[in-house]
Amino acid sequence: MSRCDIHPSILSADFSRLAQELERICGADAAHVDVMDNHFVPNLTLGLPVVESLQAVSPIPLDLHLMIEDPDRWAPAYAEAGCASVTFHAEAAAAPIKLARELRAAGAKAGLAVRPATPIEPYLDLLPELDMLLVMTVEPGFGGQKFLDVTLPKLRRAAQAVKAHGGTVALQVDGGITEETIVRAAEAGADTFVAGSAVYGKDDPGAAIAALRETARAHMA
Ligand code: DX5
Ligand code: ZN
Repeated sequence: MSRCDIHPSILSADFSRLAQELERICGADAAHVDVMDNHFVPNLTLGLPVVESLQAVSPIPLDLHLMIEDPDRWAPAYAEAGCASVTFHAEAAAAPIKLARELRAAGAKAGLAVRPATPIEPYLDLLPELDMLLVMTVEPGFGGQKFLDVTLPKLRRAAQAVKAHGGTVALQVDGGITEETIVRAAEAGADTFVAGSAVYGKDDPGAAIAALRETARAHMA
């Protein structure tokens, strides 16, 4: 069956009890971990020591989303810590090909993210170097924002390129994903869905994950 992965974002979890919060999403395909440095985005979350602690206890793989300046310097350590995938921003990386190769050499999947207003076209030749493309569907920095429909044409173009490349690269969307907006993201060609508030904002995160997956699967391009 084709890929249809749900990655709950622990940004919306209770930071005082992260180990238990990871257990609550053990039915997901991976846990999305948002690293913010107060420079690339106007918010500060957590860094390598906390990620190493999460990696030690997580029942599911960790999907790191680095919203930081100078990922060339900081990203490889997250791969070396054992994270399953490490995604850095195109706008922040000085040498994305070199960095993607370093991440893969350290055993992680390499992901490239673009902010809502960043064109995808300049990066499509990099697909052979990547395992995941992340099209941000809100401005990065905070959970609970509204999905930006203006990103859908870019998502469709990215999906075409990913398909033409052979479908090995995951196409992730992140920001404002709900039971309603996941329909449009899936129709546009996304196959990996990050959801923070739509999972942790519910009484039963496991049921929320299953419902999101079922809705996405029903509308995938
Ligand atoms: C935002 C983060 C997202 C965030 C998504 O900058 O990258 O991963 O947690 O949260 P929701 O799903 O609530 O928009
Ligand atoms: Zn994220």
